[in-house]
Amino acid sequence: MINSQELRRLSMDDFQAKAKEIIEKEGWDYYNYAAGRRWTYQDSINAFERYIIRPRIMCGIGDRDITTTVLGHRISVPICAAPSALHVYAHPNGERESAKGVEESGSLMILSSEASVTIADVAEAAPGGFRWMQTYIFKNRKHTEHIVRQAERAGFKAIVLTVDSPVTVNWDELDDNFAEEGHLNTDPNYRCINLFIDIPEVHEAKASGDINLVKRYLPDQHNSPITWDDFEWLKSITSLPIVCKGILTAEAAKEAVDAGAAGIIVSAHGGRQLDGAPAPIDALAEVVDAVGDSNVEVYLDGGIRSGTDIFKALGRGARAVFLGRPILWGLACGGAAGVKRIFTMLGNELKDVMALSGCPSLQEIPSGMVVHKSYYENREHVSKSAKTCPKCTCKL
Ligand SMILES: Cc1cc2nc3c(=O)[nH]c(=O)nc-3n(C[C@H](O)[C@H](O)[C@H](O)COP(=O)(O)O)c2cc1C
Repeated sequence: MINSQELRRLSMDDFQAKAKEIIEKEGWDYYNYAAGRRWTYQDSINAFERYIIRPRIMCGIGDRDITTTVLGHRISVPICAAPSALHVYAHPNGERESAKGVEESGSLMILSSEASVTIADVAEAAPGGFRWMQTYIFKNRKHTEHIVRQAERAGFKAIVLTVDSPVTVNWDELDDNFAEEGHLNTDPNYRCINLFIDIPEVHEAKASGDINLVKRYLPDQHNSPITWDDFEWLKSITSLPIVCKGILTAEAAKEAVDAGAAGIIVSAHGGRQLDGAPAPIDALAEVVDAVGDSNVEVYLDGGIRSGTDIFKALGRGARAVFLGRPILWGLACGGAAGVKRIFTMLGNELKDVMALSGCPSLQEIPSGMVVHKSYYENREHVSKSAKTCPKCTCKL
């Protein structure tokens, strides 16, 4: 664990490198996993370079306000924690510890349905925290219902339904590793504890051996061919607002709006599901346009590594962004203090970008300030006085 003073000296790249040293190999492999040839994973990060900030000057920028609201709840930074499974690989207290770091940052945490700690334990560890609960619609709906009920009881303010995972593409490969190491089979701490509920199906699977539970029953819960009818079902069992996570197209965004979603997270699941899906920052504008003035809030996750990335996402229409892997790196490096440092570092970077681009508040990022780089390849923006190249027709 790295002390607070040292944490302040770490860049995002340092956090990643140190986390790799600290987290044991199978945990690191799980966190670092990306589907297929890792194209979507890599492009989600690289794609931010395709967006350019056109700064204003002489705007008298003093204090910068980086607070915002999500579903009516004020947060101190437009940066939140995305749901990610099994934080126990990064810290022995797992999600209890990350929840404390997010609470101290005054932000929002989405707890994964595949957390290594119970929903109630997380609420107890960070009682003042603002949280939403992620779930899938599992094949056996009793799992989903259990998660929703626990989240309601623990004061969570919304349900986040992940809609990009009708199957989990990585489970087989990872379980082979886990099974070899023995973790998921022998150590209850390394389990998705909120799925081990008191229902006959789980007892039966358990009775036929842990290996059966982990390698057959639980993965099979992800083979759930869901439709918007299942979204209706979810709405029917809770009065909490529902946010759809994993939307990348205008068509899907419109369906989510029609179905009654309160929010949309533009996300490619950190490149862990469909390899070949677009980078979220590329998909953002069409989703924002499709949502229009429906009051459905649009957020983004995937590839956020700096304040500049955050500014670009907000400038392209996201209300807030979510971090996946950076939270795990912060957690591994410094526990709750490490998570908090990630928020502080990115918040400070964001404030700098706001000053340098002439935006005193997040509500005042003018449309057209963050443009795709093709803007600069467009002839219309070439000076009218530019000379024409004698060899061809291009402007000098
Ligand atoms: C280790 C790990 C576990 C994840 N588990 C979940 C999960 O349980 N549910 C979910 O909806 N998304 C999950 N995600 C995806 C994240 O919520 C998020 O979409 C993604 O990590 C964002 O990309 P980033 O890691 O580049 O920030 C997971 C991501 C990682 C890295």
